Amino acid sequence: MEAYLVDWLNLFFRWFHVIAGVAWIGASFYFVWLDLSLREPPQWKKEKGIKGDLWAIHGGGIYEVAKYELEPEAMPKKLHWFKWEAYTTWLTGFALLCVMYYWGADQYLIDPSKMELTQLQAIGISLGFLVGGFVFYEALIKSPLQKFPKVFGALLFAGLTFAAYALGEIFSDRAAYLHVGALIGSIMAGNVFFGIMPAQRELVRAIEAGEKPDARPAQFAKLRSTHNNYFTLPLLFIMISNHYPMTYGHEHAWLILALISFNAAFVRHYFNLKHQGNHKPWILVVGLVFLFAIIGFMLPKPVNTDAAVVSDAAIVTISEQRCASCHAAKPTQPGFTSAPAGIALESIDELNANKPRILQAVKTNYMPLANMTKMTDDERAQMIRWAQSLSN
Ligand code: HEC
Repeated sequence: MEAYLVDWLNLFFRWFHVIAGVAWIGASFYFVWLDLSLREPPQWKKEKGIKGDLWAIHGGGIYEVAKYELEPEAMPKKLHWFKWEAYTTWLTGFALLCVMYYWGADQYLIDPSKMELTQLQAIGISLGFLVGGFVFYEALIKSPLQKFPKVFGALLFAGLTFAAYALGEIFSDRAAYLHVGALIGSIMAGNVFFGIMPAQRELVRAIEAGEKPDARPAQFAKLRSTHNNYFTLPLLFIMISNHYPMTYGHEHAWLILALISFNAAFVRHYFNLKHQGNHKPWILVVGLVFLFAIIGFMLPKPVNTDAAVVSDAAIVTISEQRCASCHAAKPTQPGFTSAPAGIALESIDELNANKPRILQAVKTNYMPLANMTKMTDDERAQMIRWAQSLSN
């Protein structure tokens, strides 16, 4: 009963998290596009303090959008703010982290083959990492380094790559990736909460008080907003990577994460330039070539075809001992109510039907989950050999 309700909590928060994230990143994409697409307005608009305008058509209507240099002639009655998209995404993401990785720490967070942690220790490290990483970013962005975007970017990238490596030595592979994503998401939400919103409140306060607004906080907010923009594609990759054990389960998972994230931010750069009317298709070509190089680098090692064939009976026995306590129509493993991922592995037919996925899951050490059933290296090797054999 508890496992069933926890599954529902997980589903609810995940669903909510995706909806809020779509709204947040959608709005972020829209405003970055808008900002970069603004063109010089006609003279009469310039006289009103408008620095750029744009026309668009959507949903059967034509829109005219204008951006003020700083203050409009008069404050409108209703000014729309965009903040709850970001806060809701963070809150639901954190709730999901708690339900899945803290509540289910034994299954998803801790990997005893890397570090024997208690649930409390693992949660402590996780929270310490998120807070520490966040403080590191805030210190960096408030330092004089903010004036050197390239150095800043390189330092941030190095820091996150180191984090991916260190987390991979502590937590399960999947949790290591997820924590890099959770940190990036927290930095992004923090940019809104601690940087962008205060700057906007100050702008509105100054205008309402009839003072000349200071342009600096607004520029600083823009810097944070630009960081968020480059974070989006790597972040989304990390969030969906947990469906692909070949990424986070790779023997150099941290390197794969660094390469793919770098490439994703590079591709994002193409779009940012394009919105400004600077079309550089070679960026996409280089990104694609780089992606192929990564795919090649990750290619699974060739199979040893000489190895003796593993019998059906042997593989069913291994599965009974190491997999079927979870992967059964009626699992006996506490915390499971139905076959995980809809995959039961109780008979040779079921095993055969899932060969390619079993190969992937076992080879990358993703399965057995957190090696709770203590599969030996020899059994793993046998299962891989069996799954790689082409018969049936
Ligand atoms: C402690 C419980 C547990 C044990 C033991 C276990 N699994 Fe899993 N398995 C899971 C869960 C939970 C999922 C779904 C994970 C997810 O949502 O990504 C899963 C998913 C899978 C998948 C689907 C992965 C994918 O997304 O393609 C395969 C294949 C798999 N397991 C094979 C195995 C094999 C083979 C064994 C034994 C060597 C095994 N599992 C042992 C819990 C377990």
